[in-house]
Amino acid sequence: MKTILVTGGAGFIGSNFVHYLLENYDDLTIVNLDLLTYAGNLDNLADIAEDKRYTFVRGDIHDRALVEELFDKWDFDTVVNFAAESHVDRSITDPDLFLTTNVLGTQTLLDVAKNHWKLDPKDRYSREFKEGVKYLQVSTDEVYGALGPTGMFTETTPLAPNSPYSASKASADFVVRAYDKTYGMPVNITRCSNNYGPYQFPEKLIPLMINNCLAEKSLPVYGDGMQIRDWLYVEDHCAAICAVLEKGALGEVYNIGGNNERANIEIVKLILENTGKSEDLIVHVKDRPGHDRRYAIDNTKITGTLGWSPKYTFQTGMAQTIEWYLHHREWMDKIVSGEYLKYYENMYANR
Ligand code: NAD
Ligand code: DAU
Repeated sequence: MKTILVTGGAGFIGSNFVHYLLENYDDLTIVNLDLLTYAGNLDNLADIAEDKRYTFVRGDIHDRALVEELFDKWDFDTVVNFAAESHVDRSITDPDLFLTTNVLGTQTLLDVAKNHWKLDPKDRYSREFKEGVKYLQVSTDEVYGALGPTGMFTETTPLAPNSPYSASKASADFVVRAYDKTYGMPVNITRCSNNYGPYQFPEKLIPLMINNCLAEKSLPVYGDGMQIRDWLYVEDHCAAICAVLEKGALGEVYNIGGNNERANIEIVKLILENTGKSEDLIVHVKDRPGHDRRYAIDNTKITGTLGWSPKYTFQTGMAQTIEWYLHHREWMDKIVSGEYLKYYENMYANR
């Protein structure tokens, strides 16, 4: 990878990924295409905004003319697609937007990349692509649906998404697969478990609970709080994506996770303990409709074939994360004083 299009690079994982690339690779040009929806935040990239290896472009992955213009100008050899509507609760109230961005936006990126990378774009049956090009789709473990008390998701687990968000991500995965099978396009799909770390928008469990603890607000735990997620520190996810970009076999799917299952209530209590607040702040609220009970990733394919493994334990990752939010109160305050406030009031009213 030399000239890389990162989409959604102003969001949580995308901005961590841009930082990770700049810290770990010298000879690289990065273009970050991001629409700056409510979840995109240029404050996440303020420290690297002047880096000569990096350019920001505001725009929509579904804007074909813009994506073509960027390909013509930069001649990318790599695309990593993070851009998405990513929050399950929002997908329940606004599914249309999720399908437009997550499915049609992905198809636009794939199609422009295909036309740019095919050796003979006019021959519709040719399957020859330039050397060294790759499209990587950042997907999610949620496409596999929910697990019972035992078992894990492997790459061959049938897709069974339960929310409009996960349905849109699964649909996008099928489109990526079709571009491989039909056109011979060099692609990978990664399916990671829940990430945590710096720059996560405070609609998601961990930053929301930290923020509410600091503000002494109640902590809204959905249902009994015994739903299980498999948590991975975001930097480990970024390293895994680089391993797949560099060594992933073309056409393959890689699950990414760190064998770190925790019940939501356990996480909430850990945050309370670390911020010195009382468990009296916990309030059990009405559950999310269609709420997946448990996720767990079998990571043996990526650890065994690509040599990736997580560097952070849950203890080290969570300590670093809580510390980061405690030392970046301005970052959080700027977000929660604006549009987010209306969203929060709307989402948690009458629950
Ligand atoms: P996020 O919501 O924090 O960021 C999404 C980014 O995409 C934002 O910067 C937003 O402005 C941008 N965006 C949205 N629509 C766009 C469009 N039409 N064109 C261009 N940019 C657009 O999301 P995240 O948590 O960083 O997740 C990034 C990706 O990783 C998503 O595809 C998500 O499905 C996937 N993923 C997330 C997790 C997780 O735990 N957060 C786990 C596995 C996979
Ligand atoms: O598994 C990967 C997925 O993880 C990603 O694909 C999604 O983009 C990402 O948002 C995340 O989805 P979740 O729904 O698991 O994350 P969220 O932080 O919204 O919720 C985590 C768990 O905590 C879930 O069981 C719901 C619960 N929860 C969440 C919120 C926001 C609460 O109990 N209370 C809350 O206020």
